[in-house]
Amino acid sequence: MNRKKFIGIASGTIIATVTTSYLLSDKRNLLRADIKLENDNKETLKPDEEEILFLASLAPSGHNTQPWFIQYLEPYHWIIGNDKSKWLPAVDPTQRETILSIGTFIQNLEYAASYFGYDCHWNLLAKTNQDKQVMEVKLNKKELKNAFDIAKIKNRRTVRSDFLSNVLKPEDIKYLVNSESEFIHYLPVTSKESQFINEQTIVANRLQCDRNPAQQELADWIRFSTKDAEKYRDGLTTASMEIEGFSGWVVRNFYSKDNVMKKDFREKGIDKIKQEVSQSAGWILITSKDNSVATLLETGRRMQRLFLKVREKSIAIHPMTQILEEASTRQTLNQSIGISENIQFILRSGYLKNYPSPVSLRRPVDWFIRK
Ligand SMILES: Cc1cc2nc3c(=O)[nH]c(=O)nc-3n(C[C@H](O)[C@H](O)[C@H](O)COP(=O)(O)O)c2cc1C
Repeated sequence: MNRKKFIGIASGTIIATVTTSYLLSDKRNLLRADIKLENDNKETLKPDEEEILFLASLAPSGHNTQPWFIQYLEPYHWIIGNDKSKWLPAVDPTQRETILSIGTFIQNLEYAASYFGYDCHWNLLAKTNQDKQVMEVKLNKKELKNAFDIAKIKNRRTVRSDFLSNVLKPEDIKYLVNSESEFIHYLPVTSKESQFINEQTIVANRLQCDRNPAQQELADWIRFSTKDAEKYRDGLTTASMEIEGFSGWVVRNFYSKDNVMKKDFREKGIDKIKQEVSQSAGWILITSKDNSVATLLETGRRMQRLFLKVREKSIAIHPMTQILEEASTRQTLNQSIGISENIQFILRSGYLKNYPSPVSLRRPVDWFIRK
């Protein structure tokens, strides 16, 4: 075999191997739309119960842990529970964010129930953020009026990239804040308070990513491969972290929990945060009068009502909670921005040119039902 022929065969073999490896690799981000929904609960749930609980589960939660479960008492009569196995002890040691997330679930549930013609009757059971049984709910048939548009629940998503930096229009702020100006505060990007939150968000993220237990907890909730994303249907996927194209392919095929603990992963994380805070219309803060379970649930509901209104105005919101999770940044926040109430949510806001579809995954309803 002459040299030319050998090089030809060798490069052909290499190209064939690389092509085959690529074809066999985890090629694209798994999206919510890729998952086929099946009703596996035909014997357990009425069709509208299944729909209502599925819509409720489209609520946001920290690291997408989905910390709720449903104790099924009888048709249209359930207890909403707090699933301890989904807590985030390293960043949320008092389960404040768990209860806020369950509040967002409750708001979705109520809106979804109204769409199917039910009123919800609520009975608070939890006295602490750790109690297993949070809220009892009974659905009663009502006249079909003021039904919520469930497309808003289906289309809501957290967006993290490509925010425009123009301030929110007064009419949009008015629509979002509505009659809740006591609890919802907009700090425009031009204000010194907004600049302070930008800086502190970077400081808090730096503190948190240097804290190994917090970084380990993040690693535990990242679903690197499509196989894991399909298996768990929760956590953060390459799609929900908005890691696209070649970078997404690398992460899906070559990354594991160990990479998250490495210095360059932490550095890249901070660079991403810096880029994110440089793009915004400012911050929306949600405050509360106290920290009781009832108030935290109501605050989660308030946040979800707001979240379900932003898409129609082409506004994205991105919860960035690290300032509240790190003690040193949390302690100076209120005084520095002149707010005396309890700050429960810190939301980066901004207009988007193109609003992407939701991509984060959810566990099927039968995975979170307990008979
Ligand atoms: C209490 C709470 C805290 C959150 N904190 C953060 C955060 O610090 N950073 C972030 O990128 N997203 C945060 N999120 C957004 C979640 O990651 C997001 O809701 C989840 O991944 C599901 O995605 P979706 O909102 O698009 O459905 C938070 C959400 C909630 C409810």
